[in-house]
Amino acid sequence: MIGKTMEKALNEQIREELGSAYLYLAMAAYFHSQGLPGMARWMEVQVQEEFGHALRIYNHVVERGGRVKLEALPEPKFEWASPLEAWRAAYDHERYISGRIHKLVELARQERDYPAEVMLQWFVSEQVEEEDQTRRVVEMLERLGESGRGLLWLDKELGKRGKEEE
Ligand code: FEO
Repeated sequence: MIGKTMEKALNEQIREELGSAYLYLAMAAYFHSQGLPGMARWMEVQVQEEFGHALRIYNHVVERGGRVKLEALPEPKFEWASPLEAWRAAYDHERYISGRIHKLVELARQERDYPAEVMLQWFVSEQVEEEDQTRRVVEMLERLGESGRGLLWLDKELGKRGKEEE
């Protein structure tokens, strides 16, 4: 059975993961508005990943006899100053999520909640990938500039995400 402290903290993380999905869906819509369907596609795939993250924690709480309580999501931003700014925001957001995951691992250790600690290890590794992916796009955009052929090439590349499984 999961303890109340961990249950509450994991419920908050379910909200954060669903909030990430909501934020990235808002970014996808922004990229569509900018004529960048590839970036929008990348973000739409990311929305599914974030929903999967939320479900992973949801399942853990349920399997351990806890009670999932869904909390209200904040309204995501609607506009960004440029595609680069949106990607920077995505990278910052992933760093924020990594920080939260690390705090949850510390809490699991304090509470001696070993099952939660093991479940959270997956997220520790996943966050390395999440940060890496968004940081790389930021770096490429900084190098290519935000207009012309470079941007269109990158948009096309990012639009391939998830297509192999279709
Ligand atoms: Fe669920 Fe992008 O972290």
